[in-house]
Amino acid sequence: MTNRRVVDVHLGTDDIDKALRADVTGGLTAEPKELPPKWFYDERGSELFDEITRLDEYYPTEAERRILVDNAAAIVELTSPATIIELGSGTSDKTGAVLDAAVRHRTLRRFVPFDVSEAFLRQSVDVLAERYRTLVVHGVVGDFDHHLPYLPSGDRQLLMLLGGTIGNYQPKERRELLTVIAERQRPGDHVLIGIDLVKDVTRLERAYDDARGVTAEFNRNVLAVINRRLSADFDLAAFEHVARFDTEEEWIEMLLRSTVDQTVRVADLDLTVSFEAGELMRTEVSCKFRRERFEADLEHAGLAPVEWLTDPAGDFAVSISRR
Ligand code: SAH
Ligand code: AVI
Repeated sequence: MTNRRVVDVHLGTDDIDKALRADVTGGLTAEPKELPPKWFYDERGSELFDEITRLDEYYPTEAERRILVDNAAAIVELTSPATIIELGSGTSDKTGAVLDAAVRHRTLRRFVPFDVSEAFLRQSVDVLAERYRTLVVHGVVGDFDHHLPYLPSGDRQLLMLLGGTIGNYQPKERRELLTVIAERQRPGDHVLIGIDLVKDVTRLERAYDDARGVTAEFNRNVLAVINRRLSADFDLAAFEHVARFDTEEEWIEMLLRSTVDQTVRVADLDLTVSFEAGELMRTEVSCKFRRERFEADLEHAGLAPVEWLTDPAGDFAVSISRR
């Protein structure tokens, strides 16, 4: 079969600008201030995330890889995918285990990586198209929150959302996203989602506050993105990285703490914002799950759980469901 690669862009520069402007205006004028995590991922942010996945403290990547490697044949046997779609694909590094097994199984025709980070997605499509010469590699640049209806249709789809990215949604938004995913499922399709599990607080907090400060740089990168894209003058050195586990909500929150009283100008929005010394602005939540809570979310969205796989240490889980 011929090797084909294509990238569809549903998120043009204008859309990105509009969405960023709305989020930054809303987030910096809210009380307390808050920015959504999708703006971490410009090219530098994607590189920093990739570096995070190799840190000793950040266990989720290796735990999920172990689950996928150990169970790839069984996953493919259960789902027999003709198309694999990966939401928030990044480098699609761990996905390789499932792609290899599906190629061996001779059912897979097409891989569709979907991500908001265009430069990173294009690089990854090139690498994947070289590696999987019998597959159509169809990259889609888009935002989960708006562009899932543009995903290609077709029989026997396996939709994957890895890394615990579903945990970056708060409960209401998470159920909404799962509902949109459920509504596009046809008979024979499956959904595979990686989720991080509740565990010892010290380990959790270390995973989000590593000794080398890579996560701190990733966190502050959102300010660099706003400086560059919206002509703002955030002084990155005047914000400290904070990561803490909220035992009620069972999520890690990442915040930026202003170290001084300061005023920030966002020229393109004609917006001036004051921060008090010690003021906290949340930039991400990362929910940690228990099986019951996650499967209740699936069922609420209209998805039936069919498999629950964990790594030997019980740190991370992969859930498979269908409509
Ligand atoms: N799946 C990979 C990467 C996880 S990082 C892994 O498991 O390691 C989260 C990825 O989701 C990033 O590549 C980021 O660019 C993408 N992302 C974050 N928010 C998004 C959104 N709203 N729409 C589309 N992609 C998004
Ligand atoms: C992408 N997402 C699942 C990561 C997480 O663990 O919540 C993002 C991240 N934030 C800090 N470190 C990694």
